[in-house]
Amino acid sequence: MRSLWLILIFVLSALISKCNSREARAISGRIVGGVEVDIEKIPYQVSLLYYDSLACGASILSCKFVLTAAHCFRGVLIVSSYTVRAGSSTFFEGGSIHDVSKIDIHPQYNRTLLDYDAAILTLRNLIKYDATRQAIQLPFLNEVIPEGTAVITSGWGLTQNFNESSYVLRMVELKVTNQAQCNIIFLGDGGITTRMLCAGADGKDSCEGDSGGPLQHAVSKKLVGIVSFGQSGGCAQKGIPGVYTRVAAIRTWIREIVEI
Ligand SMILES: *[C@@H]1O[C@H](CO)[C@@H](O)[C@H](O)[C@H]1NC(C)=O
Ligand SMILES: *[C@@H]1O[C@H](CO)[C@@H](O)[C@H](O)[C@H]1NC(C)=O
Repeated sequence: MRSLWLILIFVLSALISKCNSREARAISGRIVGGVEVDIEKIPYQVSLLYYDSLACGASILSCKFVLTAAHCFRGVLIVSSYTVRAGSSTFFEGGSIHDVSKIDIHPQYNRTLLDYDAAILTLRNLIKYDATRQAIQLPFLNEVIPEGTAVITSGWGLTQNFNESSYVLRMVELKVTNQAQCNIIFLGDGGITTRMLCAGADGKDSCEGDSGGPLQHAVSKKLVGIVSFGQSGGCAQKGIPGVYTRVAAIRTWIREIVEI
């Protein structure tokens, strides 16, 4: 009887700690304060579907590979339950559907800290490039993204304002924020590693369901980040940036798999 209680307490505390973890609050949300955009403006954005529902955003690396966040995958990985929709401004129709044949989670991915929050999907049927489907340029290894750099993030996550439809792709412009200040904001929660980059703007943010999607340099259009996590208790809070996986820090791992 006593051991039963211990097991129950153990299971409950595991559940509670899971709910408080970054991973638990990283999934399902909204681009806040953005504008609707046609896929031709962001042709490297794709949606990652789990059966028919939106799991995450992702970016086209090449005709055979897309990049997303590792936290998009939880529990037992059944590769065949995931597909990618490319070339559509909506996640539920149009464009082309690509079956996933392999999921490579970054080997150093830490699900507590959301460090190295990156995964590469190998597609079974290749993406054909056109005005709605293009590969995104990548930064160099350890390329510096200075504070204040204008960046754009996009996705289909739920919006805060009910009138901001989440069925159509949305984008928002943000600025890279100070890394040391961002680390202080998230310190109680494990802090910010060099594999992370923070970006924000008052009243604007990416949020949960945008996870895995691109954060691109507004001028060079390079993929500087992957939507990763934010502050618990809501997105677009004043002074609280969102956190992105720093693509320049995982460049070697991407090259090993994708050979670009
Ligand atoms: C993740 O990071 C935390 C904090 O540094 C550490 O305690 C933990 O062991 C790490 N987990 C794994 C699986 O490496
Ligand atoms: C939402 O749309 C309705 C109808 O078009 C409008 O009356 C309302 O003011 C809008 N609400 C917001 C918060 O924009």
